[in-house]
Amino acid sequence: MLKTCNIVIVGGEGDLAFRKLYPALYSLHRENLLADCTKVICFGRGKLGVDEFKSRMREWTESSDYVQSVDEASWASFLERVDQFNGDATSADDMRRLHSEAGPEDMVFFLSTPPSIFAPICAAMGEANIVTEATRLVVEKPLGESLESFDEINDTLFATFDESQIYRIDHYLGKETVQNLLALRFANIFFEPLWHRNFIDHVQITVAESVGAGGRWSYYNESGALRDMVQNHLLQLVCLVAMEFPARNKADDIRDEKLKIIRCLKPIDASNVHKLTVRGQYTSGSVDNALVPGYGEEEDAAGQSDTETFVAIKAQIENNRWEGVPFYLRTGKRMTRRYSEIVIQFKPVVFKFIDVNPGNINSNRLVIRLQPNEGIEMHLMNKVPGLSEEIGLQNVGLNLSFEEAFEEHRSPSAYERLLLDVTRGDQTLFMRSDELRGAWRWVDGMIDGWKTTRQKPQKYMAGSSGPDDALALLIQDGRKWQDYHG
Ligand code: BG6
Repeated sequence: MLKTCNIVIVGGEGDLAFRKLYPALYSLHRENLLADCTKVICFGRGKLGVDEFKSRMREWTESSDYVQSVDEASWASFLERVDQFNGDATSADDMRRLHSEAGPEDMVFFLSTPPSIFAPICAAMGEANIVTEATRLVVEKPLGESLESFDEINDTLFATFDESQIYRIDHYLGKETVQNLLALRFANIFFEPLWHRNFIDHVQITVAESVGAGGRWSYYNESGALRDMVQNHLLQLVCLVAMEFPARNKADDIRDEKLKIIRCLKPIDASNVHKLTVRGQYTSGSVDNALVPGYGEEEDAAGQSDTETFVAIKAQIENNRWEGVPFYLRTGKRMTRRYSEIVIQFKPVVFKFIDVNPGNINSNRLVIRLQPNEGIEMHLMNKVPGLSEEIGLQNVGLNLSFEEAFEEHRSPSAYERLLLDVTRGDQTLFMRSDELRGAWRWVDGMIDGWKTTRQKPQKYMAGSSGPDDALALLIQDGRKWQDYHG
């Protein structure tokens, strides 16, 4: 059933709203997934006049990869839902005015603003007395820079809302391929029995980007790759790969299982940070055949700094299923190409019935390609056809491309899925505060460790696969990073 609610985008003239939220809302409208009376209220400072606002909205919607084309009839009917509301979101009077103009529907507030003003915005809503049990609040990272600052932000939200009303976005959870991880694991009988330390040697998770930090340097410089990517996106992927079967397909059951994984992560601190993590920072180089500057020379850079633009971690999950199975994580800016993959590397067969050089035997591998070229690859050993006396073996990939398999289905954007779920009141794909607290606790240990041991980022050339020490992290364990499979 379609829920009737008004969606208020606070910071409605900002970058995120134009780039992601309006295109997603238009798609939902076009697919008839919004209730008839749902209004999209763009709460801004009134810097943009009506015409400019609408033409910007259209421009960004048309250039969205997920929308592809805008048709006139649905655009016109979409605009009928859209209202611009100019005011100050930290003022209780303006909140009251919004409420009386918007009508009696339930409200979803998407705070597309810096977290530093979450507190006065929530306070204004509270003071205006416009929050009911059905009001929902959507917030997005950066939610703090440590456990302590996360708690501060959270407390300001809890002053007006309770957990069941707060939707904390990690846009990775809205990606189709990330949601498919659960389907893959729990809807196929042959994975579950093998999904265990007895059969899996290790797991690799790579989220590589070719873009640099330029354009948002000052934010990034405060954050770095660990806070920007690992604390949220990569840890969420670890949880989905490692979690146990949830009791039911319900938001809290799934989030309970994810939380257990976060709690089982072996702490990394000053005593082991050097052995288990690698920090890197890109220097100038070439990406996609274009010369690019180093991190400290980006146009908006404030000079040299010790912020990491790359991080590799050997994470360990201390529970019965995963004891002794390392999860190697790496993410970085200005790497060779943009891709995200999960590799499940199985152990070698114990009894080798064919007498071949062990060097020719590659063990089975499951590759989950999250982006681009989304799909799944299963690497299996096969006999090379032929009459030669010695049997030759070759590792061959069974390749499932989602684009080919689901030709007739459009893949929605992460924000479409997430906004729709907020209107439906489904919190499954949103992070609960205890999950985030656990993630911050783990990450804080590393940050303190780096500080205490003065572990500086190692330089790597833009366009490469990261610093040499990241290769060494696996080589010392007798393993190697898998190259891009796409
Ligand atoms: C964001 C980070 O959360 O995710 C960015 O702040 C990063 O630094 C982005 O570029 C990557 O998202 P995606 O969907 O392009 O993989």
